[in-house]
This record gives sequence, C-alpha cells and structure tokens, in this order.
Amino acid sequence: MPGKKKLPTLLKPPKKERGMEIRPREARVIGVFSCKGGVGKTTVVSNLASSLVDLKRKVLAFDANLGAPNLGLHFGELTPKVTVHDVISSDLPIREAVLEIQGVPMVLGSIAYEDEVRPTDLRELLSPLKREYEMILLDSAPGIGSEVVAALKACTGMIIVTNPYVPTIASTLKTFRAAEKYRVPILGVVVNRVAGEPFELSVGEIREALGWPVIGVIPEDKRVRESTAAGIPVVKYRPRSKAARELKKLASSLSERLKSL
Ligand SMILES: Nc1ncnc2c1ncn2[C@@H]1O[C@H](COP(=O)(O)OP(=O)(O)OP(=O)(O)O)[C@@H](O)[C@H]1O
Ligand SMILES: [Mg+2]
Repeated sequence: MPGKKKLPTLLKPPKKERGMEIRPREARVIGVFSCKGGVGKTTVVSNLASSLVDLKRKVLAFDANLGAPNLGLHFGELTPKVTVHDVISSDLPIREAVLEIQGVPMVLGSIAYEDEVRPTDLRELLSPLKREYEMILLDSAPGIGSEVVAALKACTGMIIVTNPYVPTIASTLKTFRAAEKYRVPILGVVVNRVAGEPFELSVGEIREALGWPVIGVIPEDKRVRESTAAGIPVVKYRPRSKAARELKKLASSLSERLKSL
C-alpha cells in the first residue's frame, strides 16, 4: 500500500501558522529616574538619545514628566506642535506626537499645559511605538508620585541618576525601593556632577551605600549648563568636553548591552 507522501521540509507551513507566532523584538523601555529633582535626569536622557542616534540605534526619547516637562528645553524646542498632552487629552494616536529634533525622534510635553493631566497608562500609550524602535528612553519626573509610578510600570529597565552628596544618596534609596516594588530591573547608577570635592561621597562609597553597579560617572562641567541654555545636548554642543566624553561612553555601553537587555 502506497504510504502517505511526506511534505518536503521546504513546503512545511511557516512556524507562525503552526501556532508559534514569531514576534519582532519590541523596544526596551529604559526609564531614567531620581527621587530628588535637578540631579540631571533630562541631561542624561537628551545626551544618551543624541549619542545613540549617532551610534545608529533606533531610539526615541519620551518626556514622561507630565507635570513639568522639560525635555524639549534641552533641545531648544519650547512649543512642540503636537505633545503627549494633546495625545492624552484628545485621544490622538501617539505616532502623531513623534517629532524629530536635531536628528533625534522624541515625544515632548507641553510646557504651557495648565489643566490637571489625567492619569495615564504609559505602557498602553507607548505600545504602538514599540515595534518601531529598539529603545525608548523615558525622562521621568522626580519624586515617587503617581506619574513616576506610571513611568516605572512602563519600564523594562531603569537607570538611576544621583549626585555625590549624602542627602541625594539617601533619597535615591527610595527610588531603589520603588524599583523593587514594581519589579523593574535596574541597569545601574549614574553619578552626575562629580567635582572631586572633599565633602563629596566617593564612587566606591556610593556603590557600597546603594549596592548597585555604577555605570557612569559624569563630571561637574560648566559646558553642560551652557549647552542646556543653548538647547543643544552637550555631546553635540561641546563633544570633546569632559562631560560629553563620559556621556558618550555611557551611550556606547548601553548600545552594547541592548542585545542582552
Ligand atoms: N554634569 C553636569 N555639570 C554641570 N551642570 C549640570 C550637569 N548635569 C546637569 N547639569 C545642569 O543641572 C541642571 C538640571 O539638570 P536636569 O534638568 O537634567 O535635571 P533633572 O534631574 O532632569 O531635573 P528635574 O527633576 O527638574 O526634571 C541643568 O541646568 C543642567 O545643565
Ligand atoms: Mg528633568
């Protein structure tokens, strides 16, 4: 009796049709957090985003500081055409809020928005963008309030920015507790504004106090303040300055780690 002919391997239906859907890799959502305000979160996000674009990474910077957005200021953009606030208040598709400024794709907030921002599920909001980028960098608000929690919940990993001072390190511990509570993997700590003064904590002391690896040490550098005032990330404004060199180093190591994140 003639047996059933076997399908040649090449004619087998693709895996997807056999019930194993192959999904393209989605963007890693990396949030930049600090409990204390003004430590350098937006500086880190703007410079990482700019450097990662130079490294040919598909990255999007996203202003998750809905109460006091200032990512646009770091790129000299004060009045973005479409903002995340427009998306939230009028149910516009999130793609309409993606702007490209200085070559960097980003979603900005409205500085002029005065109404209360309605609680937003950032994970859902970001979802349509995840197929288009390798990494979404979230610029968080300071503190540990509801908008920070919304950002935390959307993250697949986080970077914690701190300064080398005892009060800042003490409040940074709160951010670690929040990371634990919401089970967000910590990529590491960036110590910003290191001036080498005797009253500063050393990187070793910070590592010991926080118990996590320090992945970047950015010096105090007047060029950073100048660049913020000029609305151009320091990696572009003064690429050879000390701070720019360290920020670019951090971007390269993040780019390398992207495969394993
Ligand atoms: N390494 C540095 N050297 C000198 N100045 C710096 C450095 N990093 C940041 N700054 C300056 O500190 C100020 C605050 O930085 P930034 O806006 O990034 O802080 P932030 O943590 O995002 O603040 P917020 O919590 O208000 O969002 C800016 O004027 C910036 O230029
Ligand atoms: Mg900020």
